[in-house]
Amino acid sequence: MIHLPEHETASAMWRVFPRALKVPLDPREVEEFGAQFGTVSTRDGGRGAWPIAPSKVSGTFSETSGEARLHTDAQYHEQPESAFILACERPALDGGDNLLLEAADARRVAESCFGTDGIALLEAAQWCWTVPKVFYVNGNPQVSPEAPIFGRDGSVRWRIDNIRCRTAQDRDLAIEFADALESYGRLTRLRLEPGDVLLCDNYYALHGRTPFSDPKRLLYRVRLV
Ligand SMILES: [Fe+2]
Repeated sequence: MIHLPEHETASAMWRVFPRALKVPLDPREVEEFGAQFGTVSTRDGGRGAWPIAPSKVSGTFSETSGEARLHTDAQYHEQPESAFILACERPALDGGDNLLLEAADARRVAESCFGTDGIALLEAAQWCWTVPKVFYVNGNPQVSPEAPIFGRDGSVRWRIDNIRCRTAQDRDLAIEFADALESYGRLTRLRLEPGDVLLCDNYYALHGRTPFSDPKRLLYRVRLV
């Protein structure tokens, strides 16, 4: 869990630093900002500050426009990074706002939808996620080790569009869970302005974004160990 500086914050799992960096952003300064809160990770893509800008019709959330459904980052790794920052250079003109949900609230959603039996399935180490093509090693498709969606420590690991389910029943459960999360009435919605930085826990919060089509939207993400 990240340890946020002691300031007013709407959640212990994330914080926005308004106008913390000058624009246009310098990727090295974005990395330095992130390094205040953890060790900068470069394992996917070989760089710390990864541009989040629409450049492809299909690909990862960082390469395309459109919505990003609620997820945690690097869910396809055995050990995802524990936090990340998002630094905004240019917000989209037509959406692309950040959506956030604490893991504890996600668990409440699951409890109300599926009851004890459903929670037990989500806590079972039986879920896998396909590694995004852009991060394949030697061009080989890869799948994560089996892991639970809800950890015993209150953490969450989640993404719907690359999940690999063992059975059709598991898939139905996953789809219903994804829909229920996004119907939850208490999602936090944040719009980052130029120079703003969002720091977010990646174990105890889910994040996503609203749809957008503006090709000029540009943010940088740094994952932190
Ligand atoms: Fe993400």
